[in-house]
Amino acid sequence: MHFDQKNVVTENSFIRNSESMLTGIFGTAEVTPFWVADMDFVIANPIKTELQRLVDRGQFAYEFNSQGVFNAISTWYQRRHNLTLASDNFVQVTGVLTGIALLIRELTDKGDSVLIQSPAYHQFSKVITGTGRKVVKSPLTINNGNYEMDFADLEAKLSAPDVKVMILCNPHNPVGRVWRQEELEKVLHVAEKHNVTIISDEIHSDIIYPGHQFTSLMALGAANHVALIGSPAKTFGMQSISNGYLYTENQELLEVMRNLTESLYIDHGNAFTIFATIAAYEKGDAWLDELLEYLQGNINWIWDFLREELPDVRMFPVEGTYQVWFDFSDTGLAGESLIKAFGEAGFGASPGTWFDSEAKQFARMNFASPRADIEQAFKRLKLVLAKPVEQAVASTKETSSSCC
Ligand SMILES: Cc1ncc(COP(=O)(O)O)c(C=O)c1O
Repeated sequence: MHFDQKNVVTENSFIRNSESMLTGIFGTAEVTPFWVADMDFVIANPIKTELQRLVDRGQFAYEFNSQGVFNAISTWYQRRHNLTLASDNFVQVTGVLTGIALLIRELTDKGDSVLIQSPAYHQFSKVITGTGRKVVKSPLTINNGNYEMDFADLEAKLSAPDVKVMILCNPHNPVGRVWRQEELEKVLHVAEKHNVTIISDEIHSDIIYPGHQFTSLMALGAANHVALIGSPAKTFGMQSISNGYLYTENQELLEVMRNLTESLYIDHGNAFTIFATIAAYEKGDAWLDELLEYLQGNINWIWDFLREELPDVRMFPVEGTYQVWFDFSDTGLAGESLIKAFGEAGFGASPGTWFDSEAKQFARMNFASPRADIEQAFKRLKLVLAKPVEQAVASTKETSSSCC
């Protein structure tokens, strides 16, 4: 595999390259896009071969194979995560956000609240308010340079009678934490004590770096209240050719979700998503292992560069995901002045305020890119940050996209 190779496709139809969006966010389209959580890399060969087979076949009669997908996912979890998941307990959905939106509708009533841990993947708030529910935030806290859950705050918020569901993000986007088993056990304990159902979004669960161990909530005997939501999108760079799935051992909830997705006719993928997913989970191990090594190299490069050349930019440890969260407080930049600096440097990271309205001096960078692009962007950023600081101003623009 050649992740270093300059085989980046600068397709204008990719959201990350959209001129209007880039200009809307950074004031210029001349930025290297690091703001969407997808990959610059070409997919694994077995997936490509499978897609090619379908194209060459040239016939697209009705064809569904959800059970084949579930079997492949189960085998993958057993092999990669040592987790036994019954292939009968899955429900296929269009995507992970669709799954979360449907679950919220089923598990809560209008006016109820759903808890998220901020900073949080910005679509969570959108998906909650889009269903007519309220967002309750339990902020993560920074302790010794690392994000942790504030269990006192979490319990206080989960004990409110209107909070019926909590979205857990593991690994956490954007802060990159892979929650440890003991942290998850505490969350589960508090949620069960207050009759709150956890929706565990584990879409980033395959992107885990050495020294860290992914634990699915499903591994903790969370049988009755918890759904697991995933997809091959992040793992294999299949963002536009994958479906999502949810998993629960709660047979009542399973039945409800199955009926709901069937009645909406969204319980199946198409031939491309189905066979690409099966190929990925059955034959994608070697590609993923190389990807993880390459991504770890990117992390190491960024750490070293910041330490040696840009010590005012603080980086949080990346335990999982290919997102890195930065604190620019020591640069004196925040909000629009920070994003203006990004625009000038062509450094296309996402504004922190997308993830937490308070996080004006923070930013998230997607680093699933060739190292040469990352190096260039940081070198340009260093030059721009060396200039005198402008007055920091309040907020940055929101993205209107339903992704990223
Ligand atoms: C935590 C998390 N959940 C869900 C999604 C989106 O999933 P999907 O495109 O399957 O709806 C993302 C994409 O960045 C994500 O980071």
